[in-house]
Amino acid sequence: MKKILHVVSARPNFMKVAPLYAAIAHNQALTQTIVHTGQHYDLNMSEIFFRDLGLPSPDARLDVGSGSHTAQTAHIMLGLETVLSAERPDLVSVVGDVNGTLAAVLVATKMGIAVAHVEAGLRSFDRSMPEEINRVVTDQLADLLFTPSLDANENLLREGVPPERIHFVGNVLIDTLLASRESAARLPILDALGLVAGDYAVCTLHRPSNVDDPSRFARLLGAIGDVSERLPVVFPVHPRCRRSIGDPEVRAVLAKAADLRLISPLGYLEFLALTSRARLILTDSGGLQEESTALGVACLTLRENTERPVTVELGTNTLVGAEPARIRAEAARVLDGARPAGRMPELWDGHTAARIADVYADVLGSTMAVAR
Ligand code: UD1
Repeated sequence: MKKILHVVSARPNFMKVAPLYAAIAHNQALTQTIVHTGQHYDLNMSEIFFRDLGLPSPDARLDVGSGSHTAQTAHIMLGLETVLSAERPDLVSVVGDVNGTLAAVLVATKMGIAVAHVEAGLRSFDRSMPEEINRVVTDQLADLLFTPSLDANENLLREGVPPERIHFVGNVLIDTLLASRESAARLPILDALGLVAGDYAVCTLHRPSNVDDPSRFARLLGAIGDVSERLPVVFPVHPRCRRSIGDPEVRAVLAKAADLRLISPLGYLEFLALTSRARLILTDSGGLQEESTALGVACLTLRENTERPVTVELGTNTLVGAEPARIRAEAARVLDGARPAGRMPELWDGHTAARIADVYADVLGSTMAVAR
């Protein structure tokens, strides 16, 4: 039996590992283990996703918690070295671009263990973003690189990654979305929040560049508060925003907003139930840009760049930046117009995890077919 060890760390990782875990489970020649680094630890930032996604509880927990990037990455590295020494997996599988992704690839590679990176090749070309550093280093070291879109292949080739390491497989996050839409639709979240389908907006913000400085955060919230004059805006608040939310300037802006509703972070299914029926999404999240495209909901990305250009070129995403006047104008354009005419990018078809599991099986020398 060959052993695959998954490393999960933070909220967006869980949705990417769930379909992969399920696809690999079909192959009797493979075993798998999940290690949770503990980068995210609140019930509604971690545990709730395991429940919503049917992901088994982690086999090992490192419980590193929050800290500076260096402290967090270093603690994860130390914990993982111990786990990998005991487990000796044949392959370490990492997803996304969080600190745990980087830590895992560094430790495993130095221990001579093969690494696969799912969601490889995305680039914002903005090294002030911590995730960009994580992406660049992870992709240089990983042995197998699974890309969600062809722009990612181009980025990897330009950086000198040997083509035989690169596998264009589509978007594993969209596997989870497509598999979960029906069960999400049955949840009564709209009634609970007093919302009407198609007549509200959803906002998420958590990038350090948008939320850590209270004045910048207040300016953004001012623009979003203006949008809420047209329709209710629901904002599930990421814990990173808590410090800035307490700032007097931010509180003053929130008090003036017409209908901006701050709520606690939601689980995967409730959040999907909310986003899938929204008129408009305002976000700085990477995953939500992709989910909006898959759902056909207009998305305004409150950042200057995106590592997911396919969502702008083919999907429903518009890069808007953080200038209030531009946010107001773009929101008005969407609210005055028809639904966006985006289309689904290639291979965002719900079968990405199965394609990845096939490659894992091949590479690990298993001859058994992976069930679709
Ligand atoms: C991390 C990822 C980011 C991802 C995001 C999704 C990195 C560099 N960043 O950012 O790519 O988009 O997760 O959410 O890996 N906190 C809690 N409870 C938790 C987790 C965090 O209260 O369960 C608070 C702590 O104050 C912490 C802060 O949120 O210091 C930031 O958490 P951290 O994991 O460092 O980064 P995120 O901003 O969540």
